[in-house]
Amino acid sequence: MRVVEESICCSNTKVFIGRGIVREILEKEINGNVLIVRQDAVDPKYVISTLKTKPHEIVLPGGDQIKDINIVMQIIQLLSEKGFQRRDYIIALGGGALTDVAGFAASIYMRGIRLINIPTTILGMVDAALGGKNAVNFHGIKNIIGSFYQPHIVISDLIYLDTLPRKEFIGGLAEVIKYGATLDYELFKYLSSNSTRILDRDYEAIEYIVYRSTINKLSIVKHDPYELKNVRIVLNYGHTVGHAIEAVTGFAVPHGMAIAVGMVCEAIIGEGIGITEKGVVDILVNILKMYGLPTSLRELNIRVEQEVLLNAMLKDKKRHGDYIYLPIPTSLGSWTPYKISINEMRSAIEKCLG
Ligand code: GLY
Repeated sequence: MRVVEESICCSNTKVFIGRGIVREILEKEINGNVLIVRQDAVDPKYVISTLKTKPHEIVLPGGDQIKDINIVMQIIQLLSEKGFQRRDYIIALGGGALTDVAGFAASIYMRGIRLINIPTTILGMVDAALGGKNAVNFHGIKNIIGSFYQPHIVISDLIYLDTLPRKEFIGGLAEVIKYGATLDYELFKYLSSNSTRILDRDYEAIEYIVYRSTINKLSIVKHDPYELKNVRIVLNYGHTVGHAIEAVTGFAVPHGMAIAVGMVCEAIIGEGIGITEKGVVDILVNILKMYGLPTSLRELNIRVEQEVLLNAMLKDKKRHGDYIYLPIPTSLGSWTPYKISINEMRSAIEKCLG
C-alpha cells in the first residue's frame, strides 16, 4: 500500500492506494456515525462489513444526472433527521459524479462534515476524488454550484477496478496521460513502456500510475487550492476543448475520450504559437493511440461546426472576458499558461480540429 499525505489550506488529506485496503483503513479511522452515499452498481459489502455500527445509506444511479441540487438536499435531510454532527462521516462510494455530489453536501452540512472518498473508477482515483472540487449542475450549466472542500481521507482501493468496463477504464487513463504530458516525464515514459501491463490491469502497474497521479495532483492543488494563481489550471489541460466537445454532443462523448482529443488539439495550438516543442504532438498522438484513445474528431465519429464548439468554450468557467488561459505543454512533462484571445482561439480551433 502507498500513502500520500498533503496539507491543503487548513486541512489534511490522506490518500491510501492499494488493493483490498478498505477494511484496514476504515477500521482504524472511523469513530462516529456514517452515511454511505453510494452508486447502485457498486457493491457496499467491503465497506459495510468493516463498520462497528450500522451505517445509513443513500443509493444513487450512475451518471451526471445525479449532480442535482435536489440530491444534495436529500443527503442533507437525512443527515439532519438522523442528528449527524461535524465529527461524523459521509463515505462517498462511486465514480466522479457521485463523489462530486456527496462532497458538495459534506461541505455545506454544518459548514463541513468529515468526508471519506472511496473512488471506484480510474477517473475518480486520479482526479475527481482528489483536490476538493465538488459541484452540481444547474439549469443545464455544468458544475455551476459548488465548493472547494478537501476530503479527510481518500481510499483508492484497486479491487473496485476489477469490474470497471474497459471503455471507462481507458477513459480514465486519459487523465493519467495528462499528468505525464504536463507535469511528470517519468510517468510519461512509464506509460509509454508499460501499456500492455496497464491495459491488462496489472495491479502493481496500476498502483504506480495512480500513486504518481495522486502526487502530481495534490502538489498542484496545494499551491493553488482555489485555482486563482494560474497553477491549478494545468489540471485542465485538454479540458477547454474537451468540455466543449462533451457539451455540444450532449455528453454522448465520454469525458476521457473528449479530453484525449482536446489534449492533441491544445498541443497543436501550442506548436502553432511556438510554445510546444516540435515532435510533442506526434508523441502524444502515439501514446493516446497505444491506449486506444481517440486523437481527432474524425475518430470520435462526430461532425461539429467549429463556431458551435467555440460558443461552448465561451460558456466555460475558465474564461476571463475576451481571453481563456490555456495550459500548454512546452516539452513532455512541463507546461506553461498561455493567455489566448477568443479570436486567436477561433483560428486555432480551425487548425487543430478542422
Ligand atoms: N479536475 C480539475 C481540478 O481538480 O482542478
